[in-house]
Amino acid sequence: MSLAFSAPAKIILFGEHAVVYGQPAIAVPVSSLRVRAVVHPAASAGILIRARDLGQEIRVLDAADPNEQSPLAWIAAYTARALEQPALSGEIDLKSDIPLASGLGSGAAISAVLVRSVAALGGVRLEDQAVNELVYQSEKIYHGNPSGVDNTVVVFERGLYFRRNYPHSFMTMRSNYRILIADTGIRASTKIAVDGVRRLFEQDRDHIEPVIQEIGIISAEARELLESQTGQHPALGALMSRNHALLQMLQVSSPELDQLVDAAQNAGAFGAKLSGGGMGGNMIALVDEAHIVPVSEALKQAGAVRVIHTTVGEN
Ligand code: PMV
Repeated sequence: MSLAFSAPAKIILFGEHAVVYGQPAIAVPVSSLRVRAVVHPAASAGILIRARDLGQEIRVLDAADPNEQSPLAWIAAYTARALEQPALSGEIDLKSDIPLASGLGSGAAISAVLVRSVAALGGVRLEDQAVNELVYQSEKIYHGNPSGVDNTVVVFERGLYFRRNYPHSFMTMRSNYRILIADTGIRASTKIAVDGVRRLFEQDRDHIEPVIQEIGIISAEARELLESQTGQHPALGALMSRNHALLQMLQVSSPELDQLVDAAQNAGAFGAKLSGGGMGGNMIALVDEAHIVPVSEALKQAGAVRVIHTTVGEN
């Protein structure tokens, strides 16, 4: 018998980078983009992970060996050790439609699915919080110093108001928000972006600290608007655009991202910003129904390699 698991992509609506410094961030799942796994028990030795989109086929023979090099093998082995079942065997087929290294949380989604798959091979059904803790460990490999926002939104698949070292709190949105997600086509390392902000922070703390604090204030204001009865789309859009300007000050935007943000605003979006680590990857724009097509067209004209429409809200 085979079992199936999946996990969604995510977007950060407000607060990326500042969240690493203890400020709040808001993230939501994108359920239409997913990583899926099919798990088959097998008599062969070890765990075989087939990840065709990543061009990888990895066999984890000895989960007790902590020196696994590939991140996929590492998280599988780490999970097996955490379950105290280092001698698991079986096959995991992974498929993903989340683009890699583009601010959509592909690493966290792949890890979430792998943790659940390995646990299934061990006959264990883990609670979401236990999955979340294991996935956070794998995020450390991708990022170095992750805030924990990516793994939490992807594992629980719910809109999240997240503050590092605080209990996470899920959002109750009372309106729907149409978001366009546009890809610059440029892959960028979150770790390099996070390290760059750290350098800037250390060199010029007097200027950078207020920027980080203002981003936190924006996340808090955005939460109130998102949870209000009436939605307040124009005010939210203005907060998004201000958040983008502050991310520019943290030097994590790029000419391509700025071009897409400008194009969305000029075509009638309520607001727009980069989403995730930045320096490439994706941006998001808040639009109303009438502007879905014109803003999508403007984004493509301005260089987006792909535009996705998603609705977040009323859960
Ligand atoms: O680039 P992504 O999707 O992994 O998002 C990273 C979000 C940051 O705030 C930049 C880093 C973090 O650990 O929260």
